Amino acid sequence: MTQYPLPNNAADLTGDIAFVTGASSGLGRRFAQVIAASGATVVVTARRKAKLDQLVEEITAAGGRAVAIEMDVTDADSIFAAYQSAVDQVGVPTILINNAGIPDAQYATKMSVELIDSVIGTNLRGPFILASEFARRLIAEKRGGRIVNVASMAAFRYDGHGAALYSITKAAVVRMTAALSVEWARFNINVNAIAPGMFASEMMDGMLERMGDLAARTPRKRIGQPAQMDSTLLFLISPASEAVTGTTVQIDDGQSAK
Ligand SMILES: NC(=O)c1ccc[n+]([C@@H]2O[C@H](COP(=O)([O-])OP(=O)(O)OC[C@H]3O[C@@H](n4cnc5c(N)ncnc54)[C@H](OP(=O)(O)O)[C@@H]3O)[C@@H](O)[C@H]2O)c1
Repeated sequence: MTQYPLPNNAADLTGDIAFVTGASSGLGRRFAQVIAASGATVVVTARRKAKLDQLVEEITAAGGRAVAIEMDVTDADSIFAAYQSAVDQVGVPTILINNAGIPDAQYATKMSVELIDSVIGTNLRGPFILASEFARRLIAEKRGGRIVNVASMAAFRYDGHGAALYSITKAAVVRMTAALSVEWARFNINVNAIAPGMFASEMMDGMLERMGDLAARTPRKRIGQPAQMDSTLLFLISPASEAVTGTTVQIDDGQSAK
């Protein structure tokens, strides 16, 4: 039987290289900081390069290691180029946080084809292309890795107020997580997801503007803070969760059980 330390809860990511999408704001920004603080080198990606550069400065000032790479997740060539640039600059990524995402904020019948393509491209097509590129390289090098996809509680329920396609893409992310975990288990690439409820971010600012005081409708009368997801994120990418794959962890402060 394999021997594990007692307790087997190490979250030391020294030697890992993490590729984080949507790191220019909100949850992705926090995810990148947390992973860097745990010892990994972090590749922060998004379209707004100035915000990424600022994040790299902060991580570096705190003693971490990070590089910023501009990437549009709706553009496959941009994904391949950013991934290759990461490999060239810091080495082969061993952790992928597929976090970039956009809301639709619209009823299905009112959506333009451009908006439909953009929501599917950002929330599903891009993450699938990137996850496959990430795994392709690790499989070729016979190395394991960790993927965390950021889904949403909207994958499981929808209140009917203009986010049907968002809900559909996030349900697909949950299924993508399970399906890819099956395909890549034998290569020691674990694929899990986090499904957040309502957490403070730029996206949430937009929702609050559109829908009013959403905190008042929650059991704890609050919107979550990204830091409240730190421990779950670390669990899913650390050695301690080696046998956990194909799972979506719901973190919603009890919001949707109400
Ligand atoms: N906040 C919540 O309550 C909540 C709840 C459930 C799920 N989520 C999910 O959490 C993830 C992060 O969202 P957030 O709440 O942190 O919102 P956010 O602050 O708006 O962050 C979204 C991130 O995605 C990036 N992004 C958007 N389109 C992109 C594109 N085409 N190419 C590359 N990057 C792109 C943005 O960067 P650029 O604009 O610089 O490209 C930004 O960094 C999303 O997948 C979202 O669906 C959030």
